[in-house]
Amino acid sequence: MPLISLQARNVRLFERLHVDFGERLNVIVGPNAGGKTSLLEAIHLLAVGRSFRSARVNPVIRKGADQIVLVGRYLEASSGVVTTLGLERGRSSHEVKIDGRTETRLAALAKAFPVVAITPDTHYGFENSAKQRRATIDWSLFHVEQQFFPAWLKYRRLLRQRNALLRDRTQHATLATWDAGLVCVAEEIQGYRQGHVQAWNGALGRYSKELLGETGLTVTLKPGWRQGMVLSDVLRLDRERDTEEGFTHAGPHRADLSLCFDGQPIKDVASHGQKKLALIALKLAQISLFIEHTGRTPTLLLDDLTAELDHEHCARLLVVLARLPVQVFVTATAFDAPLSSAWTEFRLFHVKHGHVAQSEPVSP
Ligand SMILES: Nc1ncnc2c1ncn2[C@@H]1O[C@H](COP(=O)(O)OP(=O)(O)OP(=O)(O)O)[C@@H](O)[C@H]1O
Ligand SMILES: [Mg+2]
Repeated sequence: MPLISLQARNVRLFERLHVDFGERLNVIVGPNAGGKTSLLEAIHLLAVGRSFRSARVNPVIRKGADQIVLVGRYLEASSGVVTTLGLERGRSSHEVKIDGRTETRLAALAKAFPVVAITPDTHYGFENSAKQRRATIDWSLFHVEQQFFPAWLKYRRLLRQRNALLRDRTQHATLATWDAGLVCVAEEIQGYRQGHVQAWNGALGRYSKELLGETGLTVTLKPGWRQGMVLSDVLRLDRERDTEEGFTHAGPHRADLSLCFDGQPIKDVASHGQKKLALIALKLAQISLFIEHTGRTPTLLLDDLTAELDHEHCARLLVVLARLPVQVFVTATAFDAPLSSAWTEFRLFHVKHGHVAQSEPVSP
């Protein structure tokens, strides 16, 4: 589902932008602070409604401007249908349009135009934040398992209600009834996640072998409560602590992923380059499962592709990417050997001082 054009106003240093992209590989090169990451950020914003660099929209809006305006057109390859996405984001408001229809939820964008971003910020987030790790697995479930998102919204509502009850001691007699409903949805969510992790590991082994030359990379899921216990018992045992602190400690909102080499967490044993490739392997495995389940293809954003990778690993990665039937955006400060040799055709863009200049498609 390639993004074929993007018009943007007021994203970071870009005042106005209109770019037509290639359906497969788009290489974006330029000096530091030229706007390469900002261009990927504009695509991510259109696809997800928020940046991968900042949870808040304020830093992304160009200094002195009030709102971001984005219009993008993507192609549904199987049908040939072109869909237009529109997003206006002010400091505290947003408006989403899909083919001219107003949508109330930002999630409508993500559903329509799936994007996977792998940037230095997502690496940092995956290593340091359980929330980001949960978001990684939930990206797949959001797209692949129709019942996951409604279950997740229901769980969040029940959790908020339970936390309110914990803080209101006059209502404690009703907690057991609320817990029963919460546990039911929690187990449903855990079931979806666990099922996905099993399939994920199958695909991960293949990408790990290709990118790292090792098969010992695995991902495991911690459900968010003590292993070997059922959640209803954990909630009962935790009730005093939950009441004292005013929130629920255990549940799928505290689930976590662990990425390991031969059983050891990669953050403890892997080099920087290996960590980068391991996360890429994890995301490519997700993408291949996504394609298998939906028949659709997400767009992949790879910021600073060459950073921390030697030529050989970079070239290997580009060969693997060339085999996946997805649109790929890569950024780099220089257009060098691995970038120019792995693909038969790509579109090259130079980004400098907030201006994007497109070169003719290149065939090496
Ligand atoms: N809200 C904003 N308004 C205007 N300019 C901004 C805003 N936010 C960031 N910038 C500027 O945008 C410029 C481009 O940043 P960007 O991160 O896109 O560069 P880059 O090409 O990815 O650089 P690098 O190679 O160092 O990663 C920076 O100089 C930054 O200061
Ligand atoms: Mg950058």
